Amino acid sequence: MPEETTTAVTPEAAPVATIATLGQHEGQSVTLRGWLYNLRESGKLLFPIFRDGTGTIQGVAHVKSVSPAVFEALKGLTQESSVIVTGKVRADKRAPGGFELDVEDLQVVQRVPESDPYPITLKEHGVDFLMEHRHLWLRSPRQSAILRIRAEIMRSAAEYFDTNGFIRTDPPILTPAACEGTSTLFPVDYFGDPAYLTQSGQLYIEATALALGKVYSFGPTFRAEKSKTRRHLTEFWMIEPEVAFMDLDGLLGLAENFLSHIVQSVLKNRAPELAVIGRDPAKLQNICPPFPRLRYDAAAEMLNQAYKDGQLEAPFEYGNDFGSPDETWLSNQFDKPVMVHRYPADVKAFYMEPDPDDPRFALCSDVLAPEGYGEIIGGSQRVSSYELLNARIEQHNLPKEAFQWYLDLRRYGSVPHSGFGMGIERAVAWICGLDHVRETIPFARTLHRIYP
Ligand code: 4AD
Ligand code: MG
Repeated sequence: MPEETTTAVTPEAAPVATIATLGQHEGQSVTLRGWLYNLRESGKLLFPIFRDGTGTIQGVAHVKSVSPAVFEALKGLTQESSVIVTGKVRADKRAPGGFELDVEDLQVVQRVPESDPYPITLKEHGVDFLMEHRHLWLRSPRQSAILRIRAEIMRSAAEYFDTNGFIRTDPPILTPAACEGTSTLFPVDYFGDPAYLTQSGQLYIEATALALGKVYSFGPTFRAEKSKTRRHLTEFWMIEPEVAFMDLDGLLGLAENFLSHIVQSVLKNRAPELAVIGRDPAKLQNICPPFPRLRYDAAAEMLNQAYKDGQLEAPFEYGNDFGSPDETWLSNQFDKPVMVHRYPADVKAFYMEPDPDDPRFALCSDVLAPEGYGEIIGGSQRVSSYELLNARIEQHNLPKEAFQWYLDLRRYGSVPHSGFGMGIERAVAWICGLDHVRETIPFARTLHRIYP
């Protein structure tokens, strides 16, 4: 509801522009549409900061340079009031974006009432308060910069596959059975029958890979994780390639090229956003192939030594999967993502191909991001023998009927094939240098949060 308007007609019908592209309009009058982010007043001078979703810019309005109506409308204007503002773009080296706006005209679209002010002020707020107001917190320059980087990560990830011969095939979200272990399934009532929200599209894109050769999927996945860590969400987005006739070695090459393309795209296309969030690009510049490869056994030895040296609190028990502190420590030892491969088959998923050189180990790999971020990619070569897969399904007490179609992929023209999954939010946390995945997705779903 427009509550208050001043002269709606802009002088000489200034072109509508966005803050991000103001550089093209230096010396010209432009019209911006957005919100009042902040306002400083010093007598006859007003310094509003506007934001429009593409950036922020400081405006200047002197009592003598604008009409009395405009000055009155701007004076005391409340934070997050929506506005249409016209002004002349002036280069200013000291300004964060390089420009300031000499205000000429202003129309208030909706004035936030003083009696019910915008709840997020520019002072510090606790994270719980901010998460409770996530629908508004998203407007802050930092949060919107993170979402822009997230979008670039998703765009460049899909671009990598789209331009390298992969076909996107979308697996179902409602599934009859588990893929990554039964303990983290979200059940749904499917017309009286039990069904589950998908944990990974993998099993289904194994089918599309055998139909199309090189495929990928990209969509939401769900895990009823009871863990309250900075790495876990209950709903997250996964991008998964799957390739017929690819072995583990080929998969590691794919993973390092894919991740490097994403990081280099962010550096190229989202440098201003990295600056807004204070992320040092130097930490990302060297992310290019080859990445270090480390056998699980060698990683276990490193962890043991680190424990002896007092760098880890608990000893690492050989044969287990890595715990969070282990992953953090390991990924701190490298300045590129490290690809740990050949974990003990017993701690990994039923569908992983055993290493023919030593079947106690699986032909699998987890890619651990540097700076302590830990696992961002998990993948493997898949069991291709019908007999072995059938035996695995039995050993893992999986419902046989639900897996008949999956076994068909080994009955009819089975081939070696491999794939991996990358959680978008883990990648965003690392690339942005964030403490917690809750800021990597517009509306995080965690153990204790499903609002807003
Ligand atoms: O390692 P995960 O469980 O592997 C799979 O789901 C395979 N089926 C993928 C495949 O081979 N096609 O999960 C893959 C990635 C992890 O490396 C991590 O980045 C992310 O998904 N992930 C999570 N991200 C946020 N919250 C959680 N609870 C996550 N669980 C996994
Ligand atoms: Mg994993």
